Amino acid sequence: MQKLLVTGGSRLSGELSLQGSKNSTLPIMAAALLAEGECVLRNCPRLTDVYSASRILGCLGCRCSFADSCAVIDSGAVSGTEIPEHLMREMRSSIMFMGAILGRMGECTISIPGGCELGPRPIDMHLAAMKRMGVEVRDSGGRITCRIPSGRAKGARISLPFPSVGATENIILCAVTAEGETVINNAAREPEICDLCCFLRECGAEINGDGESRITINGKAHLHGCIHTIMADRIAGATYLSMIAAAGGEIILKNACTAEMEPFLSVLEQTGCSIYSGDDRIYMRSTGRLKAVRDRIRTMPHPGFPTDAQAVLMAALATADGTSVFEENIFDCRYRHTDALVKMGADIQVMGKVAVVKGVPELHGAEVNATDLRGGAAMITAALAAKGTTEIGCISHIDRGYEKIEEAVRLLGGSVRRV
Ligand code: EPU
Repeated sequence: MQKLLVTGGSRLSGELSLQGSKNSTLPIMAAALLAEGECVLRNCPRLTDVYSASRILGCLGCRCSFADSCAVIDSGAVSGTEIPEHLMREMRSSIMFMGAILGRMGECTISIPGGCELGPRPIDMHLAAMKRMGVEVRDSGGRITCRIPSGRAKGARISLPFPSVGATENIILCAVTAEGETVINNAAREPEICDLCCFLRECGAEINGDGESRITINGKAHLHGCIHTIMADRIAGATYLSMIAAAGGEIILKNACTAEMEPFLSVLEQTGCSIYSGDDRIYMRSTGRLKAVRDRIRTMPHPGFPTDAQAVLMAALATADGTSVFEENIFDCRYRHTDALVKMGADIQVMGKVAVVKGVPELHGAEVNATDLRGGAAMITAALAAKGTTEIGCISHIDRGYEKIEEAVRLLGGSVRRV
């Protein structure tokens, strides 16, 4: 099992080009199944989750290859409809293949997806939506068989009880080749949904309203291949900015999605960091001595503060002057990183969905284990600001979403070694 050794205490500075977005790439790889031709994804990040998605595509009969920062997916010979349980378990996004396989083949067999343990992550909204679109769903002991009797899903009006990112994406994937019009009310508005829709439009789909809470899709019988550039990863961006905020220093973040990062940047600015953003660049400077954030930091669906950036910002605020309060409203169990931060000297009290972070003058190195993807990134963030060396285990969680994170941190002058 690999570990990261992070030695903190030095200021960071440098330029970094942001990786492509994990949470865009995964549903787009599923969407490539719908195209009867070759899709080229530029700016595709090299992540273990991306390789898991390519294994799923492979077992369905698609050809998937990687060269430089491109992924090439050819779904011309797609033949399979079943995803083996071990591949379903590798990541949460395996569920996204349900809508895509149904859209292309009219039937599929899947099971409950894996992914980061952030509390219960049911798929009830996904299944209810598929049923509304004419899909027959049978669950026998966790193996889920879906079938569309006529072979082609039917457009439907679907109102989501909560703007779930994954359910919105699955509905879109099934609806783009369905018969007639699908309307999603209370749809998720995350930028990655717009990137998915942009890709699908490049394949010939007709979708309107993405980025708003009502999305309309007019199904087309056939979609074709395309060349698409994956958007920048706003959460990786939030992570690297949090590292600079915590350790002190300056950064130019290139190839950034500045508008999409605004909900995070507006909170980070309250810590006293100087931030200038324009076009696709963000410049940030931090003295390393942050102010606590006065207003409660509430995670909310986009355009609210992103849940995926909660842990990394918390790590930076662990050494701020004053007390910051977080409220996690998306996942029931997304404070598992706090034990590690406390072990490093942080003063954090968790009460249900609220975490109270009293800034301490200094953190110290410790032996910790990554609990999940963003929690692991928070441990690196805290370690870069801490005195001494932190040993982080279970880093396979981190590799799921950050491309060569140790190289990126070293580019900024941080001391990180993979052993
Ligand atoms: N939910 C249900 N039923 C459903 C679907 C969701 O109750 O059928 C609940 C979930 O349990 C959760 C909430 O709704 O409490 C939000 O879940 P959502 O479906 O919006 O999230 P997701 O699609 O599972 C994606 C990202 C997550 C990100 C969330 C929220 C991907 C691959 N994953 O997950 O990213 O936190 O949206 O923005 O896009 C990460 O990158 O570290 C990560 C966890």
